[in-house]
Amino acid sequence: MSRTFYITTPIYYVNDVPHIGHAYTTVACDVAARYHRLIGDDVYFLTGTDEHGMKIERAAHDKGETPQQLADRVVTRFQALWKTLGISHNDFIRTTEERHKRGVHKLFRQLRDQGDIYLGEYEGWYCTPCESFWTETQVGDEIACPDCGRNVEKLKEQSYFFKMSAYAQPLMEHIKANPDFIQPASRRNEIVRFIESGLKDLSISRTSFDWGIKVPDDPAHVIYVWFDALSNYMTALGYESEDEKYRRFWPANVHMVGKDILRFHTVYWPTFLLAAGLPLPKKVFAHGWWTIEGKKMSKSLMNVVDPTMLAERFGIDPIRYFLLREVPFGMDGDFSMQALVGRINSDLANDLGNLLNRISGMMFRYCEGKVPLRSAATGFEDDLIPAINRAMHDYTHAMEEYAFHKALIAIWDIISLLNKYIVATEPWTLKKNGKEDVLATALSTAAEGLRLCANAIAPFMPESSEKIAQALGIQITGEYEMSYAVCGAQMEQMPILFERVELTPETQPSNATENQADVPSLPLIEFDQFLAVSLRAGKIVHAEKVQKSSKLLKLSVDLGEGTLRTIVSGIAQSYAPEELLDKTVSVVANLKPAKLMGIESNGMILAAKNSRNRHEVLFLHDVAPGTEIK
Ligand code: MSP
Repeated sequence: MSRTFYITTPIYYVNDVPHIGHAYTTVACDVAARYHRLIGDDVYFLTGTDEHGMKIERAAHDKGETPQQLADRVVTRFQALWKTLGISHNDFIRTTEERHKRGVHKLFRQLRDQGDIYLGEYEGWYCTPCESFWTETQVGDEIACPDCGRNVEKLKEQSYFFKMSAYAQPLMEHIKANPDFIQPASRRNEIVRFIESGLKDLSISRTSFDWGIKVPDDPAHVIYVWFDALSNYMTALGYESEDEKYRRFWPANVHMVGKDILRFHTVYWPTFLLAAGLPLPKKVFAHGWWTIEGKKMSKSLMNVVDPTMLAERFGIDPIRYFLLREVPFGMDGDFSMQALVGRINSDLANDLGNLLNRISGMMFRYCEGKVPLRSAATGFEDDLIPAINRAMHDYTHAMEEYAFHKALIAIWDIISLLNKYIVATEPWTLKKNGKEDVLATALSTAAEGLRLCANAIAPFMPESSEKIAQALGIQITGEYEMSYAVCGAQMEQMPILFERVELTPETQPSNATENQADVPSLPLIEFDQFLAVSLRAGKIVHAEKVQKSSKLLKLSVDLGEGTLRTIVSGIAQSYAPEELLDKTVSVVANLKPAKLMGIESNGMILAAKNSRNRHEVLFLHDVAPGTEIK
């Protein structure tokens, strides 16, 4: 039976300039929403904008606009960004919409009618940028906002109060009875400690400004922005008239939020709901914060990373992939161009890109692009198939838990297993030896593994997985088990999905010189010592596996010396022999000979290990054998 799955992002301050922090929450929700759609759930995914409050009122005044004009003008920034990033939300709510105002009124009225909202007087320190009141202790001697450090103003006004204190106990009981309500667990402990320190009644109206939803029957008061904003999760579903959508999707399965707004979502919001006798969201998941090159993102530091610029330069899917792969979801992370480029080159262009090229290349070379039926065993399937199924199980488990990085690690484990499987089964040798039935199994198994990878990456990289599916001749589904459903598919040529990226001065972060101070000092050598190493270009004219070794390849290399050199290289787990044929590589030419598995090796091929522990050989293009490298 299909489950309903209701997921929300916070609603973004409409006047903020969208940056990767905003994109992060939304992309994470989009990945979860797409995954749940694929497995057959009835999904509702909501995002939107928070458009009321003193900040907007002041900004509009400064620009000579009405707050509504300002909101209408700038809301398109978020809407355009979500389009650019391929966000698949079902609804976009703006708190200035009538449906929202009606819902907020309904909730406010109910709580006031039953005595949970009462009129009193409020005196406190107010931080306008953060829209928060603070106590004497919180502002301290500096009289500064404990969140942003800016000066606060003393405000005294008549205010409606919500009896939050009366709901501390029921809230605590709910948290204890539902250990998954606040995730990750460390955040739950933080909130439990906060509630234990005592909940006061909450001031939920203001008279000091005008731009907001008016208190019903008392228009001198504007409803506090957080009471207004949090209600969006229900008002978007038609809470006011208890629409079918509201009945179907409330309570939300998950409110995804940044750690900075956890308290509003796990203390204020649930106590409003408890008071109203409404069901609480099943989960509030707090993710961490991104810094930029180790610094807080801020307009004044001019280091705000614009997601549209990143998507234009590197592609949408790589950005979506990077955001969710780089940092364990729930932890803080640091954004750097080097990290982004590293992930694109090693995980996408190299690991995934190589697998796509290999499978597509062999399928066209050996079977005219038609995935053959599985036939005689190669001897490797008994290990491979259960290993893929296990990794897929880890994937689905991680997706249910919002452990996106773990889900991606599981997919990349499969990519690595498939790359190794191809090296181990040597389809090119099977072809040469006329073992067509075994070849059929090798190719169909690799293609089936790729089909599952395409399904699994679909929520993260929807465009790329669609292209893989099209090239494989399959449909993306929510199937995550080896079934050989791919057999018989007619493939199309695989497009190049991920290009390698160079870190040019353009993509180099501006504070690169600052960072040089962090490079550990290395023992220095004289220029003569460097010259003593003879580095030369060598063309590989023959390559084969060294018998009884899983790591070594025996290469015959042309260094322009008239005869070929034998070089034994430990790169067999990263390259199949045929991939190296006719390639020009960088060779240390004056290394003393050494015997490896009984074979004399006369030189060394230069390679580096990437983040997945695979070798990347330094290939040279358009360079004649024997050319000196310096
Ligand atoms: N309007 C409120 C939310 C109301 S929800 C009922 C708000 N808006 S916001 O635009 O400031 O932030 C929206 C989301 O972006 C939050 O989840 C916040 O944590 C996230 N991020 C903003 N900057 C961020 C980073 N630097 N890193 C990660 N996420 C961050 O709060």
